[in-house]
Amino acid sequence: MTWIEELAARADAVLPDYVSRYVHSVAGDGACAREGVEDWDALRLRPSVLRDVSTIRTGVELLGTPVASPIVVAPMAQQVAANPLGEVATARGAAAQGSLLGVSTNTGVRFADIAAEGAPWWYQVYLTADRGITRTLVERAVEAGAAALVLTVDTTSLSVEHPEIHPPNWPDESLRFRTGNLSAAEVEAAGAGLGTNFAVGPDDIGWLASISGLPVLAKGVLTARDARRCVDAGAEGVVVSTHGGRRLGNSVTSASALPEVVAEVGGECEVHVDSGVRGGHHVVAALATGARAVHVGRPVMWGLAAGGAQGVADVLGRFRGELETTLRQLGVASVLDLYPVDVVRRGSAGPHRGGR
Ligand SMILES: Cc1cc2nc3c(=O)[nH]c(=O)nc-3n(C[C@H](O)[C@H](O)[C@H](O)COP(=O)(O)O)c2cc1C
Repeated sequence: MTWIEELAARADAVLPDYVSRYVHSVAGDGACAREGVEDWDALRLRPSVLRDVSTIRTGVELLGTPVASPIVVAPMAQQVAANPLGEVATARGAAAQGSLLGVSTNTGVRFADIAAEGAPWWYQVYLTADRGITRTLVERAVEAGAAALVLTVDTTSLSVEHPEIHPPNWPDESLRFRTGNLSAAEVEAAGAGLGTNFAVGPDDIGWLASISGLPVLAKGVLTARDARRCVDAGAEGVVVSTHGGRRLGNSVTSASALPEVVAEVGGECEVHVDSGVRGGHHVVAALATGARAVHVGRPVMWGLAAGGAQGVADVLGRFRGELETTLRQLGVASVLDLYPVDVVRRGSAGPHRGGR
């Protein structure tokens, strides 16, 4: 068992069955989720020797925000089901590690309470059917100090095969996210307008940038063509993501899509990646391929369920420790000095000369 599998088992032991199955859930027959991890595993690093790696540097700026390492927390809904403090505990754990977190539209916690923990945070936007509600939420996120917006562009349908694990059907209502940033009267007035809008277009990127004054990342991009459309529409970053294999069962994986996205837009915007990242060696492979940052999802949720804020800090600390060890073993002293020449697919000969 890996340490993450052990952590998941500890989380499963404390969560109601339907919550733990919701966190584990994947789309279709799970090929994308499974291969999402396998494709990171299939990458091999090419160590350099005779390098000074006595000091390892992991600090970077992400869209202008300094962080201790390029490992950040992916936005995830339903965190109050994992721990009563929800994103407040996640933010506390992220702050302890100098990291940053994404905050889902579907958070039950007030932005101000998350912000008070001191970690930088990005607001993840699901466009609502009534764009006025999105505007209100974005304005409140900006006021509370969100440093960027993450527009999720891949959620065109919900693919929860087992209705009993879909949060609206959970028997314990108190575990479902409560709309933490709208008043009861606003929720009532919104009615059906609160529903997710599946018609997301490139113009929404520019609109969000204009109403917030913040950089916008488009999350859920898997092709060079779409990355180009996002950047042309004003995105300052893209997140290569399969939503953790939760959206399209037989989708290509993030590891396989990352090179073409980097080749297309890597010189113009920040390329981030998530889905299936399960260790420091995966992080190094992603950064060497050209990612600026890596977002981690389920392992953080399991840390939150098993150990609250400390559990989140432990997960992020473990990833960062593995990142540092892998860099030292690779002979690279800084995350900013990783290049495609440092990584090959298993079995491939790799570059014959050049690099380093
Ligand atoms: C329980 C859960 C809830 C999630 N909720 C959201 C969400 O509200 N918005 C979003 O953009 N992504 C959401 N995601 C996807 C994550 O942001 C991220 O893309 C994914 O978890 C990364 O894969 P990993 O879990 O393999 O690390 C969710 C993922 C999980 C596991």
